[in-house]
Amino acid sequence: MCLHIASLTILLIALSTARASAPEPFSDFQNNIVYKPPADHASWGTIYGRSLQLEDGSQYVSIPQSPTPLSVLTMCSLLTWENYLPEPPLATFPIMKSVDGGATWHSHLNVSDQVHDWGLRYQPNLYRLKNDVGGFGAGTILLSGMAVKSDLSEGWLDVYVRTDDGNSWTFQSSVAHAPGPLTTGNGNKAVWEPFFIEHDGELICYYSDQRDEKHAQKLVHVVTTDLVNWSDPVDDEASDVFGHRPGMTTVAHIQTTDQWIMTYEVCDGPVSGCPSHFKIAPDPREFGAIEGTLVVSGEQGRVSGSSPYVIWTKDESRTDGGGIILLSTSNSETVWVNEDSAHPDGWREFPAEQRSAHSRCLEIIDVKGQKKLMITSAGWMASGADNYVAVGVMDVPTYNFS
Ligand SMILES: *[C@@H]1O[C@H](CO)[C@@H](O)[C@H](O)[C@H]1NC(C)=O
Ligand SMILES: *[C@@H]1O[C@H](CO)[C@@H](O)[C@H](O)[C@H]1NC(C)=O
Repeated sequence: MCLHIASLTILLIALSTARASAPEPFSDFQNNIVYKPPADHASWGTIYGRSLQLEDGSQYVSIPQSPTPLSVLTMCSLLTWENYLPEPPLATFPIMKSVDGGATWHSHLNVSDQVHDWGLRYQPNLYRLKNDVGGFGAGTILLSGMAVKSDLSEGWLDVYVRTDDGNSWTFQSSVAHAPGPLTTGNGNKAVWEPFFIEHDGELICYYSDQRDEKHAQKLVHVVTTDLVNWSDPVDDEASDVFGHRPGMTTVAHIQTTDQWIMTYEVCDGPVSGCPSHFKIAPDPREFGAIEGTLVVSGEQGRVSGSSPYVIWTKDESRTDGGGIILLSTSNSETVWVNEDSAHPDGWREFPAEQRSAHSRCLEIIDVKGQKKLMITSAGWMASGADNYVAVGVMDVPTYNFS
């Protein structure tokens, strides 16, 4: 196909006018709106956004100038979140997709509850297998989250697997049963907030657990080698005080030191709010024995917010090969950063200027061969809040920013 330059220009002008508010493809931006819930939405409308970048088999770009036409596998990003539309139909996990570095998004799929007919309601989590697990090859995409009855009386933490063609998801296994009710009331037997990592041939699923009568809520993990059978839960954090509520585990591997960092909030604990804490361990299955440390800014003495999300990446500004720990907490538009040593006085706040939210997601993505940080915000657990899903894409912070 040959498009005349003049008509191409007109087309581009028309496109840019139509999308006056969308950023340039593959550019840097903050607070780029992906989805706004309708006015008649239920509950919070949207919260708990999660992104995942992957190679996109459906998007081959051919390069006609090349002697033998090449096909280049491009990258795409998927986004999901807790979505509160009026029911029926039952709640689903929406998946939106971007093929231009997060600048524009379209509805790709809505994943519905294939097992219980209750609805997929809470804490969706996208994950790409780094290694083969059982019959599933490296690169397989998982979606986990809470299937919950609409009256919140019972729930399951379930895992879905994306089919090879990318166009559907299939239920794979259940990780944990929640006899209910699924509310944060102490004594109610809920589970929440799955998070995956791989280690030593195992897929580990961390989650929050209200089922143990000795703890209002504690943090546990289970492991699998086949995505079918899951082990019994092992504690990662449980307070001696019944009412303390550690929650929302995320974990990252600090490659340079081969240590693992776990971050979590503690609600109704010794420090007011639900500030974030961290633990460092050589084995991500052995956080239970480690004492947690409050995340406080070493410069201002500011206490971190709730609902942390931690990742690790190389710090490109360093000459010693070292990395940077990046941590989102709810009380600011910043990203907390620390060096690989994770020294308790080492936390600094980088001004990312991406909308604060309950449990923002951090991800290092590839934008045309460049490493960038994507931050996803999807709103607050507050009925009156002006919630919507928005992403930011920016240079990866360096520790010694000024
Ligand atoms: C997903 O659900 C939303 C809301 O009902 C709808 O607007 C959208 O078209 C659906 N997406 C697909 C791919 O079916
Ligand atoms: C998984 O669990 C089922 C039921 O408990 C058992 O029959 C099966 O042998 C287990 N499979 C593996 C691979 O352990």
